Parts: sequence; C-alpha cells; structure tokens
Amino acid sequence: MLHNQKIVIIGGSSGIGLETAKQAVALGAGVIIASRSEEKLQKAKESLGSKASAYTLDITDEQQVQAFFEKVGTFDHLVVSAAETSGGSFLQTDTAQARKLFDNKFWGQYYAAKYGAPKISTNGSITLFSGVVAYKAMIGSSALGAVNAAVSNLGQTLALELAPIRVNIVSPGIIDTPSRSKMPEDVRENFYATLADKLPVKRVGQAKDVAQSVLYLLQNSFVTGTVLHVEGGHILL
Ligand SMILES: NC(=O)c1ccc[n+]([C@@H]2O[C@H](COP(=O)([O-])OP(=O)(O)OC[C@H]3O[C@@H](n4cnc5c(N)ncnc54)[C@H](OP(=O)(O)O)[C@@H]3O)[C@@H](O)[C@H]2O)c1
Repeated sequence: MLHNQKIVIIGGSSGIGLETAKQAVALGAGVIIASRSEEKLQKAKESLGSKASAYTLDITDEQQVQAFFEKVGTFDHLVVSAAETSGGSFLQTDTAQARKLFDNKFWGQYYAAKYGAPKISTNGSITLFSGVVAYKAMIGSSALGAVNAAVSNLGQTLALELAPIRVNIVSPGIIDTPSRSKMPEDVRENFYATLADKLPVKRVGQAKDVAQSVLYLLQNSFVTGTVLHVEGGHILL
C-alpha cells in the first residue's frame, strides 16, 4: 500500500523516525528525512539506500519549515518525530527551558502541519508525536506533559479541519532510543530494568515498536483523530 508513496519524516535521522523510514523503505516507499544535523542525516541516508533523500531543517524556525515544504513539493504522508525534550523539577526549572520545549516539540509540529498539509495528497496523512507523560502525570514532566497534551489536542482538531487528510497522534512510552543517550549508561540501564519489571509487557520499548504503529496509521485509511498509545501498559500503572 505504501509502494511508491512519498513519505516526509521530520526527525528521520534518529530513533523512532529513522526506524519508521527503514520500515517504509522496506515496503517500497520513498522517504525524505529532515533534521538539523548534516552528519546524522548523511549516516541515516546511507543506511536507507537509494529510496531516501535528506534535507537539513530546524523545525523551530517557521520560515525554514515553509521553505522546506516548497522544496519538497507534493507528497503522500507526513510524520513529525522531531523533538529534543528535557525534564526537571517544576520549581527549580527555568521558565526559559519550559518555553524551549514548547518551541521545539509543540510549535515545530504546528509549523510542519501548517505548511506540509497543502502539499499532501487527499488520501494522505499526518502523524504527530505526543508522549506518555501527557496521559500519566510524572514528577519532573510538568512542561513536557503539557506539550504532549497540546500536541494530541492539536492533532485531533486538525483531523477535522484538514479532512480528508487523516491526522493521527502516536504517544510513545519509554523507548530505548538515542534521545536517552545523555543519561549515564548505568543510570539508564537501571531505569530501564526497574521500569521493565513494573510494566505489564516486562520490557521497555524499542524504536521498531513505535515505527510499526506509525506504519499502521499511514496505511489504515479508516483511522483518523486517534491517539495511538504505544507504551507497554505504562498508563495502567
Ligand atoms: N524515546 C522515548 O522514550 C520517547 C517517549 C515519549 C515520546 N517520545 C517522542 O517520540 C519522538 C521521537 O523521539 P526519539 O526517541 O526517536 O528521539 P531521537 O532519537 O532523539 O530523535 C529525534 C530526532 O529529531 C530531530 N530533531 C530534534 N530537534 C529538531 C529540530 N529542532 N528540528 C529538526 N529536527 C530535530 C533529531 O535530529 P537532529 O539532532 O539532527 O536535529 C532526531 O532526528 C519525539 O517526539 C519524542 O518526544 C519519545
């Protein structure tokens, strides 16, 4: 179904976005990946082969996002997994850091949907990224939880406004991707082991778990306005 379809993945140079690009290419799609780092993009492009092209883009810059979609032209599906997130105690975190989260993860996805939608084919789709902390309050995630909740709400409203283009939202749980590489390895492994023990599925997620869900949203033409939780039962805890 995705054979010869053109899929734009902003954030496609790493983690869930890169795995989504790999799975889409395996189904015969062409992918356009975009992110800030030329180095990450080149490495990702090499791993994807001839069906991939890459563009540098900072999604927080509205003019860059607009110019990017002018260059890309018409396409079928947009996936926006780009984000750089952070957490911290509500009282001890600078307001500027909370604002930065909104700039990056909320406004970035807003701009992408706004300038991408007019270029998407009428049977195409947009997939935005929320996250488990929107649905399960966690200490240290006040701003990130609010950003993720805002993205889910934006996506559901756009499913009505941009129809017949379908708009869905993926909400990952704790996924082992390079986004967690800033944590010291022993702390990270301990965090994963403790959480895996509590989760009904007894493991943390992998990028391929979430990518599989994105591919489902791209392909199922009866699904729109859905928040798809891919979190191993985390919100049940
Ligand atoms: N991993 C988790 O546990 C988890 C949990 C909940 C939600 N999520 C969400 O899932 C999505 C994907 O996360 P991931 O774990 O796959 O992260 P990741 O491996 O760090 O990948 C993030 C991607 O976004 C790009 N990016 C970051 N800021 C950007 C910007 N301003 N402009 C353009 N590209 C930018 C990065 O490339 P450059 O550095 O080259 O820009 C990279 O390609 C995010 O929305 C994240 O919040 C993840």
